[in-house]
Amino acid sequence: MAEARLIDGKAMAAAICADAARDVARLQADHGVTPGLATVMVGDDPASEIYVRNKGRQTEQAGMNSFRHVLPATTTQEDLLHLVAKLNRDPKAHGILVQLPLPAGIDVDLVMDNIDPVKDVDGFHPVNMGLLMSGRDGLRPCTPLGCMMLLEYELEDLTGCHAVVVGRSNIVGKPLALMLLAAHCTVTIAHSRTRDLASVCRQADILVVSTGRPEMVRGDWVRPDAVVIDVGINRVESADGKRHLVGDVEFAAARKHARAITPVPGGVGPMTIACLLRNTVAAACRQHGVILPTI
Ligand code: GUN
Repeated sequence: MAEARLIDGKAMAAAICADAARDVARLQADHGVTPGLATVMVGDDPASEIYVRNKGRQTEQAGMNSFRHVLPATTTQEDLLHLVAKLNRDPKAHGILVQLPLPAGIDVDLVMDNIDPVKDVDGFHPVNMGLLMSGRDGLRPCTPLGCMMLLEYELEDLTGCHAVVVGRSNIVGKPLALMLLAAHCTVTIAHSRTRDLASVCRQADILVVSTGRPEMVRGDWVRPDAVVIDVGINRVESADGKRHLVGDVEFAAARKHARAITPVPGGVGPMTIACLLRNTVAAACRQHGVILPTI
């Protein structure tokens, strides 16, 4: 059997970032607005540090302002809420992103609830989740948005496809299931406790996996001709002691079955930041009453 085509998230992300940069230039030239993204990180989780640094760098590369706030792990909930309130009032910060996870003792829901929904470029605020649920315009979470863009590029029309989403997080699984439903898929949400997960996966025309468990979905769970989107990024050590990244899908084996599959790295990962830039531009447009043809 022929090997699955690789879905090039890196290339698509580069195109989205280039579009964002073009829109930023237009906003500056025609409206005197430079979109700005405020990122907030609490503590010194090394993975979060890398993510937040990359987000800031790419924001600047697209011509936007990046305001980075790094707070010590000892920061209190009150201090964090105080900063969020300040950023809500700051007209230069069109987007606010509080990097997760937050240290124990800080109520994540309370922090999300306090971000102004029009600045919520993560799409995690209950208002934006509710807008997604009811199929209305709003800021969408970046990773599921990136998955949808990859799928729409690959398949064009998703109507009638059976999409199986493995993973039910608020950040990926649940919002993605709603987006797939809005795109007229038949959607199954599965998870680690689904009975006979293998046979559920084998029904999927579209299989999206976001479990955080390295190579949990085996290659022979992939139906012939399925399109596979692997959201996982797991650092693992191989037998020779070398560390490398793997997804939540057993890539080499799945590639023998699927029609197309995202690699790890270079699949969904770069799309998340690209969609964050896009959301920041969209938020700035909304806050200034600007309608761009591409947003
Ligand atoms: N931590 C891991 N992924 C994300 C994300 O998409 N947004 C935020 N804010 N934190 C994260």
